Amino acid sequence: MTAEHAVLPAEGTRSHTWDAAGPPVIELDGVTKTYRTGTLEVDALRGVSLTIDEGEYVAVMGPSGSGKSTLMHILGCLDVPSGGVYRLAGEDVSTLDETRLAEIRNQRIGFVFQQFNLLPTLTAWRNVELPLVYAGVERHERRERALAALDRVGLSDRVEHRPGELSGGQQQRVATARALVTDPALILADEPTGNLDSSSAADVLGLIDELHRAGRTIVLITHEPDVAAAAQRTERIRDGRIVPVTDPGTGGHR
Ligand SMILES: Nc1ncnc2c1ncn2[C@@H]1O[C@H](COP(=O)(O)OP(=O)(O)OP(=O)(O)O)[C@@H](O)[C@H]1O
Ligand SMILES: [Mg+2]
Repeated sequence: MTAEHAVLPAEGTRSHTWDAAGPPVIELDGVTKTYRTGTLEVDALRGVSLTIDEGEYVAVMGPSGSGKSTLMHILGCLDVPSGGVYRLAGEDVSTLDETRLAEIRNQRIGFVFQQFNLLPTLTAWRNVELPLVYAGVERHERRERALAALDRVGLSDRVEHRPGELSGGQQQRVATARALVTDPALILADEPTGNLDSSSAADVLGLIDELHRAGRTIVLITHEPDVAAAAQRTERIRDGRIVPVTDPGTGGHR
C-alpha cells in the first residue's frame, strides 16, 4: 500500500509515517450513539466494536433502524460517537479538530448514498468536480479529472446532462464518479443499490469491486444478502449491536 492511499492525508504541521503494516483503517471500540430529539432518546448504537484492515471489503448488514446509517456517518466522520473510541488509521478521531476532519472527509473518504445526493441544477461533470472544488484543485484539472471519472463509470456521453435527465442507475454512477474523483483510500457506500434495478445495481457493484481491486478499503451497507455477497466479509448489526454470523454459508440469516 502506497502513501497515496493512506487514509489520513499528509499534514504539514505533524509528522505521519505510513507503511503497509500500519494500524487498521477502522477500529471501533465500544462505540455508542444516542440521538436526543426533545425529551426522546434513541440508542442507535449500543457498543459497537469493529476492526477493518486496509484493503478489506466489508459488508454491514442489518434490518431497517438497526443503526447502519448511524454507523456509516460515524465511520465517515460526518458525526461523532456519544461514547467509546473510533480510531481512524490509528488516530482517535475525538482528538482531531474540525478542519482536519473536513480534510479527511474531503480527500480520503468517498461517499456513495442511496439517494445519490446529486445537485439537481448542476450537470453530471459539475457534480463530479465538486469535491475537487472544495479541495482547492485548479479549474482545468478539475474538469479533466471529472471527465476521466465519468469515463470510468461509463458515462462519457452524459457529461452535460443534469441529474433529472439521467436514469436512476446513471445518477448513481455519477455519484460513484464523484466518490472516486478524489482517489479516496476509503469508500463508504450506504445502500448504493437500494434505489436501482438489478442491472444498474450490478453495474454499481462492479465499479465498487474495481475500486477494491485497486487497493481501496470498502465498507458497503446493505440489507440485501445478494449485495453483501460481493464483499469479502459480512458484519451483521441488530438493535445497535454487532451480532455474530451464525451460519456463514447462507450469509447468517437469523
Ligand atoms: N438524526 C437522528 N435523530 C434522531 N434519531 C435518529 C436519527 N438518525 C437515526 N435515528 C434513529 O436511530 C435508529 C437507527 O437509525 P439508522 O438510520 O442508523 O438505521 P438504518 O439501519 O440505517 O435503517 P435503514 O435500513 O432504514 O436505513 C433509528 O431508530 C432511527 O429512528
Ligand atoms: Mg440507513
